[in-house]
Amino acid sequence: MQGLILAGGLATRLRPLTLVTNKHLLPVYNKPMIYYSMEAMQKAGVKEVLLTTSGESVAQFANLLKSGEEFGLHLYYAVQQNPKGGIPDAMMLAEELTKNESLMVILGDNIFNFNLRKVVEEFETVKEGAVIFGYRVKDNQHQYGIVETDKDGRVLSIEEKPQHPKSDIAQTGIYIYDHNVFDYIRTLRPSPRGELEVTDLNNIYLQKKNLRCHVIDWWIDAGTSYDELLKANILAEKMVREGKL
Ligand code: G1P
Repeated sequence: MQGLILAGGLATRLRPLTLVTNKHLLPVYNKPMIYYSMEAMQKAGVKEVLLTTSGESVAQFANLLKSGEEFGLHLYYAVQQNPKGGIPDAMMLAEELTKNESLMVILGDNIFNFNLRKVVEEFETVKEGAVIFGYRVKDNQHQYGIVETDKDGRVLSIEEKPQHPKSDIAQTGIYIYDHNVFDYIRTLRPSPRGELEVTDLNNIYLQKKNLRCHVIDWWIDAGTSYDELLKANILAEKMVREGKL
């Protein structure tokens, strides 16, 4: 399985912190935010990882992360030309690296301590379909993709930022796809907000009855607001102190 970390975007919600600094380089407790997804890839057993970011930021990431060796990874870089293309648009940059392998995608502002290795190993035995990861949110359901499941955890629907959420399970920024993903992305059209949506992509797998969802215990989307970033810092300190991160 190949890995992809998305570290682009304009992060306008975090200005002025992000006026000259890429959001994923901001500190979360004792390290830059991007370290958490690098470590998650390493723990998952993925060896080759592509990091996509803007042309302005690529040198800073390369200065910081270099070849990826420190994390036990072979790290490659790609420039995302259009910061507003959406997650699937950035994913296309991984097509060449992925070839006929599977792909694990992590949004670089997502922090979690779930070890993905077992799910990756299971996926590699079938190499088919897609896996998403959910997290139960207490409020702000309208900020996320919302995943509705039946009592056995089978996905019934996913809606992007719904006004009337059907469940409290937010779609996190961790995804695993089979090698068909690039063909599916080519069929997507921009949503009303002008982006290709990961939710539309996941709905293709859902229609094909090839989508699974794991609900994880702990997750933070550190890049959505000052409050979430502050919360991420406080929670990361607590998790590190308790040896859980
Ligand atoms: C994106 C996805 C959304 C998901 C979220 C997780 O939202 O579209 O489904 O819940 O990431 O971080 P965005 O950050 O683009 O608003």
